[in-house]
Amino acid sequence: MLRIAVAKGRLLAAFAEMLENAGYPCDVLEKETRKLVIDAPSAGLRFILAKPTDVPTYVEYGAADLGVVGKDTLTEAQKHVAELLDLGYGRCRMIVAVPEAAGIEQVTDLDFNSRVASKYPNIASAYFRSHGIQAEVIPLNGSIELGPIIGLSDAIVDITETGRTLIENGLLPIADIMESTSRLVANRVSLKVQRAEIGRLVSGLQEVLACES
Ligand code: PRP
Repeated sequence: MLRIAVAKGRLLAAFAEMLENAGYPCDVLEKETRKLVIDAPSAGLRFILAKPTDVPTYVEYGAADLGVVGKDTLTEAQKHVAELLDLGYGRCRMIVAVPEAAGIEQVTDLDFNSRVASKYPNIASAYFRSHGIQAEVIPLNGSIELGPIIGLSDAIVDITETGRTLIENGLLPIADIMESTSRLVANRVSLKVQRAEIGRLVSGLQEVLACES
C-alpha cells in the first residue's frame, strides 16, 4: 500500500477527485470521521491526515511514501523530498503587503530594520536578503494580517488567493514573491523501492491533468 500524507479540507477533496478520475477509488475520504489514517484498499492507498506544514516532514522521514503539499509550504520547509508533479489546484500568490495608509509603494521604500510578520520566515528572510533590504522577520502561525493592524510589524509576507483578507484588513500588496500550487512529493527511498506503484500513480494523475488542460 502506498502511504500518502495529505492535509484535511478543501484541497483534499480536489486531490480525491483527481485520484478517482485516475482510476483510484477513494470514496472513503468523503466519510465524516476523526480518524487520522484512512485506508482505501481497492486503490492500494493509505491516507495519513496531517497538518499542511508537517506533510514534508512525514515524507522526508519515510513515514509517508508520498505527500501532497503547497509549493509555498514545501519551499518554506526546506526538506529533502522529491517533487514529482504540479497538481495545478490550490493556486495562490505569496506577497509582501503593507497598510494602505503607510504610503509605501515598493519594498525598497521600507525603512531600515522594518519588521515583517510571516508564517514563511525562511522565504521572507531570503526574499529581503536577495533584495538587499535589512528587515526583521517575526514568525507567526496564522492570522498574519493582524501584524500591521495591531502594531507588531510594518509589513507582512503571506499568501493571498482572492485578496479579500488583505482588502478587509486595509492592506496593500506591494510585491510578488512566488506563485504556489499543490505538489505531489515523494520520499527519495520510496521512489526507488516502490518505483512501479508510484510511477503508475504519477502517470494516472498526469493523464487527468492533460485532460483538464
Ligand atoms: C490564508 C492566508 C490569508 C488568507 C488569504 O489564511 O494566510 O490569511 O488565507 O485568502 P484570501 O486572499 O482568499 O482572502 P488561512 O485561511 O490559511 O488561515 P491563517 O491565517 O490562520 O493561516
